[in-house]
Amino acid sequence: MCESESIGHTPVLPEEVRDLLAVSEGDIVVDATVGLGGHSSLLAKALGASGRLIGLDVDPLNLDIARKRLEGVTPRVDLLQGNFAELGELLSSLEIAKVDVILADLGVSSTQLDQGDRGFSFRHDGPLDMRMDPRLEVTAEDLVNRWKEDDMSSALYYNAQEFRSRKIAKRICHVRREGRIKTTKELAAIVCRSMGVSDGNSRRSKIHPATKTFQALRMAVNQEIPNLETLLEIAPNFLNPGGRIGIIAFHSVEDKVVKLDFRKRKSEEVYQVLTKKPVTACEDERLANPRSRSAKLRVAKRLSD
Ligand SMILES: C[S@@+](CC[C@H](N)C(=O)[O-])C[C@H]1O[C@@H](n2cnc3c(N)ncnc32)[C@H](O)[C@@H]1O
Repeated sequence: MCESESIGHTPVLPEEVRDLLAVSEGDIVVDATVGLGGHSSLLAKALGASGRLIGLDVDPLNLDIARKRLEGVTPRVDLLQGNFAELGELLSSLEIAKVDVILADLGVSSTQLDQGDRGFSFRHDGPLDMRMDPRLEVTAEDLVNRWKEDDMSSALYYNAQEFRSRKIAKRICHVRREGRIKTTKELAAIVCRSMGVSDGNSRRSKIHPATKTFQALRMAVNQEIPNLETLLEIAPNFLNPGGRIGIIAFHSVEDKVVKLDFRKRKSEEVYQVLTKKPVTACEDERLANPRSRSAKLRVAKRLSD
């Protein structure tokens, strides 16, 4: 039976993460995507006073929320604004060489989606920004107005499996000749028109026609796949023998990257893979927390050198 709490800031797959990561008292845990602190507060309970929790996030606004949520937990907590692709540098700034657990819950948080001025969602009108890390220089507006048509089409197809990528890219490149595309609503309307649906009609269907375009752009702005590949590449260097890495992916492109990395590490005898198939949410959690519906958790254990 799944004991998930109600929706809100409930982290996805809470029991599965807790059980598979098997955090013990005194461990050092890296929550590489601390977000709103949901998984961190859960894992902190198992760490006790001798444990250490390191929370990373590129988004300073989410770090502030996590900081409040983690006030008063028992283990020592260090929250750092940083990219998990720079795990080595971030750990050495804390004089830590190896850790026992690394967790990454990928993608965008509900707060980011809900802040209209950050441009992550077509449901709010706002500037086409989409940077999780405000220090990044390139925004979604830059990409939409700068990409060559072929590059745009490839990004839509490879990042989000948008099968109408060519039509959408063509339409965007046509419209931007008249002037820069600047807002989420403008882009959503262009995507709808490229598919011959009006924005009004699209609201009635379950999945908005611009969903994949927005996902692909967000992934490109935030370099989500390259960052994930780097984290996977370096993680074994920072895990103690017996330590565990858990990655929660939300779409097939991410999940495939994790699957292939774990498979390769297994053949190199670096990891034992603890999840033959990705772990998904039970029915109760799916009903209570819609974000959990596409979550896929894979966990591996570091073997000795
Ligand atoms: C889905 S949320 C995490 C939610 C969190 N597990 C919780 O329970 O509250 C993903 C978070 O990862 C952050 N993020 C995305 N890519 C990152 C990266 N490369 N390095 C660090 N943080 C990243 C986002 O800013 C976001 O806050």
